[in-house]
Amino acid sequence: RADVVTIPVVVHVVYASEEENVSREQIDSQIAVLNQDFRKANPDAAKVPSVWRDLADDARIEFRLADTDPSGAATDGIVRRRTTRSSFGDDEAVKFDDRGGSSAWPADRYLNLWVCRLEPWLGYAQFPGGPAETDGVVIGHTAFGTTGTAAEPYNLGRTATHEVGHWLNLRHIWGDDGDGCSGDDFVADTPNQGGPNFGAPAFPHISCGNAPDGDMFMNFMDYTDDRAMFMFTKGQGERMDACLAGPRSSLVA
Ligand code: ARG
Ligand code: ZN
Ligand code: CA
Repeated sequence: RADVVTIPVVVHVVYASEEENVSREQIDSQIAVLNQDFRKANPDAAKVPSVWRDLADDARIEFRLADTDPSGAATDGIVRRRTTRSSFGDDEAVKFDDRGGSSAWPADRYLNLWVCRLEPWLGYAQFPGGPAETDGVVIGHTAFGTTGTAAEPYNLGRTATHEVGHWLNLRHIWGDDGDGCSGDDFVADTPNQGGPNFGAPAFPHISCGNAPDGDMFMNFMDYTDDRAMFMFTKGQGERMDACLAGPRSSLVA
C-alpha cells in the first residue's frame, strides 16, 4: 500500500461525573498519540534497540475526528452522553443508548472509540469480523490521552494504540498462551515470547530460547507501561494492511 490512509474517528464520551467528561484537549491529545505511533513519528521510537531498528514500522495509518456524522451533517466527531452508570465493564453496555451508553456510528465508515469509567480494564477492542453494533475500542478515562484524567503509568495514550492494534487484527505479541512458548501472534518478525511483560523491563529479557535479543517487550502489543512501549514491526504493519484491504476496506474507500 503506497498511500497513507486516514481513518475517521468518532469519540463517544459516556460520563456520570464531570471528571469522566474528558475535555476536547484530552481527546486531541489521544488522537495526536495515535498519529505519532502509527506513523513512527513518536519521539521514543529512537529508543528501539539497535537490533530491531530496521523492523520498526511506519504503518502509514492516520486518524482524525470525523467531520461528517452518519446523516451527513457537520460534526466535531465527539458525542457526549450523560449516564447513570457509575462504571462499565466489558459487557458492551457502553456501546448502546438503551444500556446507559452511546450507540455506535456505522462501523464500516468510522472507528468508534468510547471513553468511560471502565473497571477493571484499561481498554478492550473488537477484532475485525464481529457485529457492527459493538465494533470499535473502549478506553478507560484514566488511560486515555496524555492530559486531564490520564494517570501514570498509562498516561501516554498507548492503551488506545494497543487497542486500535487489536481492532486492526493484531494479536498480543506473546501469543496468548499464558507463559507458554507455542502461542503465535501470526507475525513472522516478532520474537517468540513466553508471557506478557509488565512495567518497564531492562533489555534484553530472555524467554522461550529467544536469546540473545529476547522479548520485544517495547512492542505496542505487549503489556508494558506506556513509557516502555514504542514500536510496531513491519510484519505487524503487513497484518494491519491486510485488514484494511480486507475486512475493514470500507473505511479507507
Ligand atoms: N487490553 C489491555 C488491558 O486492558 C491494555 C493494555 C494497555 N497497556 C498499556 N501500557 N497502556 O489490560
Ligand atoms: Zn490487548
Ligand atoms: Ca507465548
